[in-house]
Amino acid sequence: MTDHSTPDRPAPELFTWEFASDPYPAYAWLREHAPVHRTRLPSGVEAWLVTRYADAKQALADPRLSKNPAHHDEPAHAKGKTGIPGERKAELMTHLLNIDPPDHTRLRRLVSKAFTPRRVAEFAPRVQELADDLIGRFAGTGSADLIHEFAFPLPIYAICDLLGVPREDQDDFRDWAGMMIRHGGGPRGGVARSVKKMRGYLADLIHRKRAALPPEPGPGEDLISGLIRASDHGEHLTENEAAAMAFILLFAGFETTVNLIGNGAYALLTHPGQRDRLQTSLAAGERALLETGVEELLRYDGPVEMATWRFATRPLSIGGQDIAAGDPVLVVLAAADRDPERFADPDTLDLSRRDSQHLGYGHGIHYCLGAPLARLEGQTALATLLTRFPDLRLAADPAELRWRGGLIMRGLRTLPVSFTPVP
Ligand code: HEM
Repeated sequence: MTDHSTPDRPAPELFTWEFASDPYPAYAWLREHAPVHRTRLPSGVEAWLVTRYADAKQALADPRLSKNPAHHDEPAHAKGKTGIPGERKAELMTHLLNIDPPDHTRLRRLVSKAFTPRRVAEFAPRVQELADDLIGRFAGTGSADLIHEFAFPLPIYAICDLLGVPREDQDDFRDWAGMMIRHGGGPRGGVARSVKKMRGYLADLIHRKRAALPPEPGPGEDLISGLIRASDHGEHLTENEAAAMAFILLFAGFETTVNLIGNGAYALLTHPGQRDRLQTSLAAGERALLETGVEELLRYDGPVEMATWRFATRPLSIGGQDIAAGDPVLVVLAAADRDPERFADPDTLDLSRRDSQHLGYGHGIHYCLGAPLARLEGQTALATLLTRFPDLRLAADPAELRWRGGLIMRGLRTLPVSFTPVP
């Protein structure tokens, strides 16, 4: 590990409880004094943290940084203990986030066909219905935990609908996903069992849908049917790959969106001036501030704190720092998006900020495939909350709120709120 601290500027401690609550001062220090910093992660693995915007953007698009964990030069003593997703044999599966071109290009093309912006736009009324329904369950009570009662169920039901998971099975998904989110997504114990159940269910669903697929696509055909159709039309997609694809859509699109809604609502509740502006603009029937606002919330405190793992396939240099082949690299999106070299007043939340080139959805060939769906869900969820509950307020001291201490994701465990009950 490199120690960049001096008596005048001691290095901040990373991955502590304080860090999980507010990592931004530590990121400011790293950007300034050790922008490409080798550190030991809680799992014991040593990795490079990249914190400046320009370096982060370059690293995200650098073909010498592979997504395939087989390139990790794992020291013998750490074998199997790293917690790097997909690294342990039992968890190995092929999906977009752990493969490189040309396989990545082929699979991404296939799923993009089934996941078009049109399909997402057609889905808007359903997302609104989901938001209204979930809010209806607690609107008369005057209080709620916005994470458990709203931010958590909304994305899981939305993705299940999009994939074509029948409604009667969706509560099983909610429970499996709840297990994954509660335990930080690591592939252990109950989490591994939930992942296994989900994958088994999806494999079976794909099998059943393939058998019953009509010759021509009907209106509003679900995504799994679209994937099967794409694979049946001359392009190669095995049933296993289709199941892994459905799984990664769930996995990548679920906790991220929970945290977009949770972190976003929290930021609005703790910035009353910004929230008033948004409420006034929504009351006037405008959408412009909502659209720039959700992008700004992603920049200011986005759900993905660090992009998923990358591994150097050969020696390279990032921001003047030499990186050896086999070294893991973590691009810290949350730090890059607060870089004063890139954003004016980066620590200020400004919902009308026009410069929305943040890295919250990543960059390059792995740029978030679900960004249009995430935007739709984030905008619908936050607008509906503020419209239904004009006096929505935080019902806890911000200092007492607990943040999940995961590596990749940033989000609240609970978000208690109160409001005047509405019928
Ligand atoms: C990839 C962020 C929602 C599906 C990514 C990446 C980021 C990201 C940062 C790139 C990771 C990397 O390069 O290591 C987010 C955020 C979301 C969100 C902040 C919500 C606010 C969704 C949704 C879906 C989704 C709703 C789908 C239903 C994916 C997929 C990839 C991905 C499939 C992998 C793409 C590839 O490797 O080619 N996302 N995501 N995401 N996201 Fe999202």
